[in-house]
Amino acid sequence: MAEEREETELNTATTERQEPSARAATGESAAAVVELVGVTKTYPGEEESAVADVDLRIREGEFFSILGSSGSGKTTTLRMIAGFEQPTIGRVFLDGNDATDVPPYRRDVSTVFQNYALFPHMKVQANVAYPLKMSGVPRREIGPRVKEALERVSMAEYAKRLPHQLSGGQRQRVALARALIRGPRLLLLDEPLGALDLKLREEMLFVLKRLQREVGITFIYVTHDQGEALAMSDLMAVMNKGRIEQLATPAEIYAKPATSFVAGFIGKTNLLSCRHVEGNRAEAGSVPLILAEDPKQSQFTLSVRPESILIGTDCHSLPNRFVAEVSEVLFLGHEREVLAKIGDQRLMVRSQDLTVGPGDTIEFGWDPKEAVIVEATGG
Ligand SMILES: Nc1ncnc2c1ncn2[C@@H]1O[C@H](COP(=O)(O)OP(=O)(O)O)[C@@H](O)[C@H]1O
Ligand SMILES: [Mg+2]
Repeated sequence: MAEEREETELNTATTERQEPSARAATGESAAAVVELVGVTKTYPGEEESAVADVDLRIREGEFFSILGSSGSGKTTTLRMIAGFEQPTIGRVFLDGNDATDVPPYRRDVSTVFQNYALFPHMKVQANVAYPLKMSGVPRREIGPRVKEALERVSMAEYAKRLPHQLSGGQRQRVALARALIRGPRLLLLDEPLGALDLKLREEMLFVLKRLQREVGITFIYVTHDQGEALAMSDLMAVMNKGRIEQLATPAEIYAKPATSFVAGFIGKTNLLSCRHVEGNRAEAGSVPLILAEDPKQSQFTLSVRPESILIGTDCHSLPNRFVAEVSEVLFLGHEREVLAKIGDQRLMVRSQDLTVGPGDTIEFGWDPKEAVIVEATGG
């Protein structure tokens, strides 16, 4: 139920944002706000590239996330979009123009970092006013615009405080107000919630999502947190070792992970090494399996999410049905995570039966349509 609702909300959001843009209707020919073409970045003296052969296209008004673990090349990618780094190979286009050699201050881009970067000796209002002052906006215009920007992030009453008199979440709201005050074309956010505790992070996710809807500009959001990326994005790119392994909507990435890395990184899953037998039949070790269709390869990896595995009488009509021995049980509150052994394979399943324990026998199975063939991740 909850998942269905989430999906509907995301869809609505996408439709709303596409409306004002006549260019979106022209599809492929619409100029991307950001486009990276064959971008590789190798830092001087390094053997491995921090970013390798990245292509991506981000359209106007999109909430785009880059998800990956630490060191996967997310910050380097953002810094090339902002102009703080130059690609070793490839080009960066902003609004259809080659911006590879354009310095950061001439790009219509703002960045919010994890560590706030507010001026510590300046009051909140002076921090937010700073970009306007620097660009020569007349004094009488600055006051009202700062007030409006602070109201948008619910910080108007803190205008006269210094950064150290604010909580982490409040400082991040001020940083957002400052980043948005000049109405940039593009806002880059590099793990902006990384320093906040869980509860504040969740609250800030709503703030960010609302802000993006209100101001309507393109957000590129970098995070190592799959939950954040899934919840927030219209489109997301999953990075691993400098490469984009998959670029798709959160729903697609969750349901049809392209590679074993993506399958394992997004949510929990069972990855089974399989061998094709004949037609839609395969084997994982000694365990015979039925697939939804003929696999194209003779060897492949199958991803089966624990939540797609049905237990007990629910699985009786399913083609893939097994009797297995429980080897381990973890208590998760509302359910149990059960590690079960069939032949030489181990699978993780979820059970609401709170009496199940090690040594018990359980019956479970899955619909072949719920299992996804994924590519082995190279490197
Ligand atoms: N200035 C730099 N000089 C050399 N190597 C760097 C530099 N910045 C980042 N790296 C390396 O590039 C890779 C990607 O880093 P980064 O883009 O910061 O990843 P992420 O933001 O995903 O954690 C890492 O291996 C990192 O050590
Ligand atoms: Mg980083």
